[in-house]
Amino acid sequence: MISDKVLIFETTLRDGEQAPGASMNISEKIRIAHQLAQLNVDIIEAGFPISSPAQFEAVETIANEVEGPVVAALARTIEADIDAAGEALKTGSKTRIHTFVGTSDIHLKAKFGADRYGKSLDEKRQSVLNMVDRSVRQACAITDDVEFSAEDAGRTEVDFLVDVINVAIEAGATTINIPDTTGYCVPREYAALFKTVRERCLNIENVTLSVHCHDDLGLAVANSLAGVLAGARQVECTINGIGERAGNASLEEVVMALHVRGKLFGTHTGIETRLLSATSKMVSSATGFPVPPNKAVVGANAFSHEAGIHQHGVLKSRETYEIMKAEDVGQDPEAIRLGRHSGRHGLFSRLEKLGIFVGEDRKEDVYNEFVALADLKKEIFDEDLIAIAQGQKGDSPIIHYRLDHLSVNCGTGRVPRAEVLLYHGSSDTSCRKIGEGDGPVEAIYRAIDLAAGSRHGLVSYAIRSVGEGKDAMGEVTVLISEHGTLFRGIAQHTDVLQASANAYVQALNQLEAFRVSSGEEFVSDGIMQSFGSDGSQKS
Ligand code: KIV
Ligand code: ZN
Repeated sequence: MISDKVLIFETTLRDGEQAPGASMNISEKIRIAHQLAQLNVDIIEAGFPISSPAQFEAVETIANEVEGPVVAALARTIEADIDAAGEALKTGSKTRIHTFVGTSDIHLKAKFGADRYGKSLDEKRQSVLNMVDRSVRQACAITDDVEFSAEDAGRTEVDFLVDVINVAIEAGATTINIPDTTGYCVPREYAALFKTVRERCLNIENVTLSVHCHDDLGLAVANSLAGVLAGARQVECTINGIGERAGNASLEEVVMALHVRGKLFGTHTGIETRLLSATSKMVSSATGFPVPPNKAVVGANAFSHEAGIHQHGVLKSRETYEIMKAEDVGQDPEAIRLGRHSGRHGLFSRLEKLGIFVGEDRKEDVYNEFVALADLKKEIFDEDLIAIAQGQKGDSPIIHYRLDHLSVNCGTGRVPRAEVLLYHGSSDTSCRKIGEGDGPVEAIYRAIDLAAGSRHGLVSYAIRSVGEGKDAMGEVTVLISEHGTLFRGIAQHTDVLQASANAYVQALNQLEAFRVSSGEEFVSDGIMQSFGSDGSQKS
């Protein structure tokens, strides 16, 4: 009986790193490998040890210190490669050698041109069969977990593919991978390949069949899923789908397809899906490859609704337009974005969440002002909404604080120091303060806290580039919290320190608006009356 567990073979650190420009340093690789272990992938392909000392070191360190998943090392069907893989893996407790050779006629002609492999195609094929036999046996002498891949299987002549797989199984391979190396196959064809292999290869039921798909035609995930439907029980994939050329099948998409359509596939994975978004962010920042906002599952817009009709539906019941829960993949369930397509329902329900109630008599005016502002701005932030609802102009959304001046002093060997001048709307006064920190952003935030006299926690700070090139804007998103309630500030600026300060002030304004709407009292310098200076509650 074929198992209903689909193993996730994660190859971000090997095939993913082959994406042009995606190379990661050793400490980033180790950090990612630990995260992949938390994500509960079954196998981490940590690298290709013979290819460079850095790859060797990465495999060796990951095998040695990352617990949980099997750690795999790649090797060609060459003795020195298998030796290097074995050497790099030797201190690991759960290890796999993954050996591969090109099997399509195109690969045979291009890679085995030398006379020692024979002159005719048949002779070259025989040479490949011998190499597979030798290298799988060599690998099996090192570890009992050996994977064989018939590179370019998607374009390999089927009779030869069956012969190669038979040899690999006979030599002791425990996993047989049938890669669509060039992303050439379409799902029906790829599934048929698995069906043929399952029907014609000897002892195939004793090995795990694996899919490995590239995305040259945008079909990597579809092909991987077709392979699973045809009996594959291992999927090779990468975080964010990064990899050679157009990339590999994206782990988060494959996993969520198997999860959301579990009944259809009759399978499951062991992935901790709530860690998908965090893992995606980590890989994006290590590689410098941004995640497109519309990327399935982990993109910033994957769970946000802008069109009014969608917002209305989602506010009533998320199932109307969502097939999975944002929180199940570690995304923000509140991601309703307000923009020009949003309707009244989205607007007023967001205001209600912000604690701002707009009377029936003002609703039309507030809505019209919102629509006018939405025509000017791509995205409307909460602060804009508050300003509109409170009768201020949308383009000067100052409620409690306005940052009138910021200067930052930092550089090699200096303690970063920031000076701010913060205007307090409630008292019509200004406060100038200086803050220091480990970095310029921390110094700015300390100075603002001092000037606002506010006590709260900083939950997260994220920065991304908006647009391209040197003059791209930095967009900072900051989350602060008080008594478990979160307040967000988002700001864009070509100067990332200014964006950081603006986002923080915006979050503080939200916090103050919330305090006011929930009945907290303020004194003019912004320190809450109900709290002592040490944060203890006064009676
Ligand atoms: O795409 C491919 O064929 C590979 C092999 C090494 C499995 O990455
Ligand atoms: Zn590949």
